[in-house]
Amino acid sequence: EAASFYPSRMIGRVADLKVDVPVAFVYPDPGSPAVLLRLGHPVLRGAGPGRDIVAFSTLCPHKGYPLGFCAADRSLVCPGHFSRFDCELGGQQIWGHATQNLAQIKLAVDDEGAISAVSIDELIYGRLHNVL
Ligand code: FES
Repeated sequence: EAASFYPSRMIGRVADLKVDVPVAFVYPDPGSPAVLLRLGHPVLRGAGPGRDIVAFSTLCPHKGYPLGFCAADRSLVCPGHFSRFDCELGGQQIWGHATQNLAQIKLAVDDEGAISAVSIDELIYGRLHNVL
């Protein structure tokens, strides 16, 4: 899908984020839950002045169970069949039944610290197209 088909939507402000405190949002539509995270150090595809802000779909790529954030190892963890995805490595799967990495939401941060979701790098669970 071309990035130009994605909506650009403000989802938060850098100053409001606390390290390891997840903030839920939806993107690109209300049927797609996601999480915004500040990890406190530079990470793969991290946005913002500290390159530490990332966002992911919270639907597990295996069967769509809702993922939860585990601050101990900065992973998103599935309560269904225990897949884990590394938030510091772009949603790479590190354990479990899923057969693909987690969909990461691309972020843009402006000079005022406003964070916008602008596109997604993998299919959201259960969809043929991310933008319906
Ligand atoms: Fe997440 Fe099965 S639904 S591992």
